[in-house]
Amino acid sequence: MTTTKGLEGIVATTSSISSIIDGILTYRGIDIDELAEKATFEEVAYLLWYGKLPNQSELDQLLSDLSANSAIPTAVIDQMRLYPKDTNSMAALRTAVSSLSLYDLSANDMSRDANVLKAIKLQAQIPTVIAAFARIREGKEVISPKSGVSIAENFLYMLTGDKPDKVAIEALDKALVLHADHELNASTFAARVTVATLSDIYSGVTSAIGALKGPLHGGANEAVMAMLDEIGSLDNVESYVNKKLENKEKLMGFGHRVYKNGDPRAKHLEKMSRALGEITGNMKWYDMSIKIEEIVTGKKGLRPNVDFYSASCYTYLKIPRDLFTPIFAISRASGWTAHILEQYDNNRLIRPRAEYTGPVNQSYVPIDQRS
Ligand code: CMC
Repeated sequence: MTTTKGLEGIVATTSSISSIIDGILTYRGIDIDELAEKATFEEVAYLLWYGKLPNQSELDQLLSDLSANSAIPTAVIDQMRLYPKDTNSMAALRTAVSSLSLYDLSANDMSRDANVLKAIKLQAQIPTVIAAFARIREGKEVISPKSGVSIAENFLYMLTGDKPDKVAIEALDKALVLHADHELNASTFAARVTVATLSDIYSGVTSAIGALKGPLHGGANEAVMAMLDEIGSLDNVESYVNKKLENKEKLMGFGHRVYKNGDPRAKHLEKMSRALGEITGNMKWYDMSIKIEEIVTGKKGLRPNVDFYSASCYTYLKIPRDLFTPIFAISRASGWTAHILEQYDNNRLIRPRAEYTGPVNQSYVPIDQRS
């Protein structure tokens, strides 16, 4: 038996949703660079689910379905009021998404049509859950979703109660496009493993949220901002980063299992971070990030990943730090559900093996004879 720690380089399934070939990321064959400049998140979600870009009437139908499904049951809001106020936001999201299934009469309907509708419903409801949780913990009224607006606009509106400005909507929308899918990343794999037992789509997305929460995956964007806060100013960057490197500690937002010459999404977020810094008249987070990148790339050859510049972008958008990873979940819900649908369409139980390294030829020792 040969063991590959972390399944590095192992091809565990076939998929026609997204690809990473020679460092180029595509969704359904379209380069992420092109989608980042031209597509809306809703178009991308349609692309991931249906395998093609929507025409106008298909997009209108999707927008209307998303709007029609974006409210969440009062019971789930009431449960969220009972969560401890300092609950981790990803833990809150994981629990609330699991709860949503209890109020969906079609939760266990495994027909394809029902699962497609549940994918749309989850995509529509996840932003509502996150915004509601963020307001409840601050003792504020929950704001119901608006119809006829994009997911990015609705989320910012439900979070603050104010109409978000165009710059913020466009920036968030682009971030959602960039995070939507990423081949067999850890959370998507978790989702596929779960539903490959023929469990339901809510179980798959709940598993995925749990996997995304960790700092080696989606939790890295929040960890990057914690690092920027800790560093505090441009003057402290050099000594902080050098110390981390000397101590062989990881710098959050750098490195990637698949990309060894840079994450193609990072440059879009770097550009966005610079633009938002200029617009807000506060270059501090951008300047610090650029300097960190210079040192880490120069000394260690590690390049920033998608999470690195997301942190400063979301901070410029005045989003609380602990909602960064939940925003990743808003976007990746499209990829998770597309992969879940694909898994159901061509399912086989995912059940690898482990190489046993424990003791052999042991016997049962009665309790009174154990040391
Ligand atoms: N800072 C410092 N050293 C690093 C880093 C880093 N961020 N990433 C990798 N290395 C070093 C690591 O210490 C090891 O060195 P050595 O061979 O001397 O022991 C070498 O590079 C290989 O690292 P690894 O952890 O075995 O690589 P991996 O392919 O298992 O890990 C990773 C990929 C993303 C988990 C890792 O790069 C990491 O922990 N990065 C920081 C967390 C992060 O930013 N995660 C977000 C990933 S991208 C988006 C997403 O999925 O959410």
